[in-house]
Amino acid sequence: MTNVDDVKERFGRTADRVAEHSAKQIENVREEISALLVFKGDELVVDVGTGAGTLARAIAPLVREVVGVDAVPELLAAARASAPANVTFVEADATSMPLESFSFDIAMTRRTLHHIARPELVVAELARVTRLGGRIVVEDQIAPVDPLAALEVDRFERARDRSHTRLLPDVDLRHLFEANGLVLVTRRYRTERRSLDEYLELAGCTGEEKDRAAALSPGGRDGYVAESAWYVLRR
Ligand SMILES: C[S@@+](CC[C@H](N)C(=O)[O-])C[C@H]1O[C@@H](n2cnc3c(N)ncnc32)[C@H](O)[C@@H]1O
Repeated sequence: MTNVDDVKERFGRTADRVAEHSAKQIENVREEISALLVFKGDELVVDVGTGAGTLARAIAPLVREVVGVDAVPELLAAARASAPANVTFVEADATSMPLESFSFDIAMTRRTLHHIARPELVVAELARVTRLGGRIVVEDQIAPVDPLAALEVDRFERARDRSHTRLLPDVDLRHLFEANGLVLVTRRYRTERRSLDEYLELAGCTGEEKDRAAALSPGGRDGYVAESAWYVLRR
């Protein structure tokens, strides 16, 4: 089961605005990751589901080399156009990457798992490509603990963006990490209030579709509150 065609359609169509949004986030993401992980400066890092390269570009000055992986060529073109020399990109599906096992010091993924029909395959891939003793970093929006509340959030997210699959709750993410033998080192939870209009438009959700999605917003039409988490794990 794969939904990569939905992902290619959605992100190919909105690549310009996603790239613009990505560029604005780089400084903040660098601050967030620097507060969680100490870099020595010689690391080889992979950023899986890199998009326009937000995380890859954020950490590029802190490490030796970064490889960004994504399935959407339009996003990779935008990422290549603005990345520093120590960042390269590979077009591939995150559930089965053409990368050698145990070859990276750190494997990261940010805001990607909820776009993937089988996120457990991506977590397994992150574990596979990381050397023993290396680090894995996962950041994503997390589902409310109450399954009915989670269903409401997913219904809204899917109305906004067909490539959304499902937000995982904290407990499911932890089980996926454990199942791959990963040991949790640190985690940080964050609450983010998003402007509904901007959030819908970022996904190319306009006109009647936008009205339909806005009516499903769990926070009403004024805003949307998203809970997310960073996890740092040891391989
Ligand atoms: C919300 S964006 C996040 C992008 C980037 N990580 C960031 O932090 O800005 C989700 C990304 O996951 C990528 N993606 C989704 N499914 C994928 C798959 N199966 N293989 C590779 N990339 C995928 C999309 O193309 C998109 O770039």
